[in-house]
Amino acid sequence: MTSSSQKKAPSFFASSIGKKWVVALTGVLLIGFITLHLLGNLAIFLGPEAINSYSEKLHHLGVLLWIVRLGLLVVAGLHVFFTMALWRENKKASLEKYAVRQKLETTLYARSMRLSGLVVLGFVLFHLAQFTWELTNPDYKNWMDALGRHDVYRMLISAFSNLWVAGFYLLSVGLLALHLAHGVASLFQTLGLTSEKLRPRFERVSLIVAVLFFLGYASIPLAVFFKVVS
Ligand code: HEM
Repeated sequence: MTSSSQKKAPSFFASSIGKKWVVALTGVLLIGFITLHLLGNLAIFLGPEAINSYSEKLHHLGVLLWIVRLGLLVVAGLHVFFTMALWRENKKASLEKYAVRQKLETTLYARSMRLSGLVVLGFVLFHLAQFTWELTNPDYKNWMDALGRHDVYRMLISAFSNLWVAGFYLLSVGLLALHLAHGVASLFQTLGLTSEKLRPRFERVSLIVAVLFFLGYASIPLAVFFKVVS
């Protein structure tokens, strides 16, 4: 029998493990998005026809595209919200007595995740303003190819020919890779897919995943800036 003086167990989402699961599962969905987005954008190496027709097909999805966009917004929002809730919890716990070494490691880890996460968030807002809302260069809206489709190829060539834009993208995808190198390893742990013994192997897998994303995403601004594609 439960007495009123007994503490109630926290609900799943109020518990640390519940929050970690939300962060991990939304992380998996966001990795799914950046994988598909990267594959789509690599079409730039196939020329204007490939990337312009890919973009056109995407926009013709109509309502489905809006459902995916809304889903992405909710997933990204939950990822940030529950990550922040966990930081607050960790901060409270770190005020309690910890071994100095463990505290230092936790703080460095949390700091790098916080910094890389915030820069990626800032990057995504700039990125949307640039290529989706076309606020940074309103002219982009009027750029059409010979078939009357939005000229995404020309837009990317124009954007990444600028040293500052290409540099900012490189820095941001570098920090995205850092975020993934740590994040993917924690994700395996939260979802209970690893053990002490397998941990180094999963850490290597996370590093490989992060490097692959970095190379894939960085290749686009680099190829444009150095006129490999023009
Ligand atoms: C070199 C790297 C990248 C390139 C060339 C690129 C290119 C683009 C383009 C052209 C669009 C507009 C698509 C359209 O409306 O036709 C777009 C949208 C978008 N990008 Fe990227 N992107 C890059 C990296 C990233 C990264 C790293 C992220 C996330 C961390 C990201 C997230 C998004 C999102 C959320 C949208 C909006 C999708 C939508 O609402 O339809 N992008 N990107």
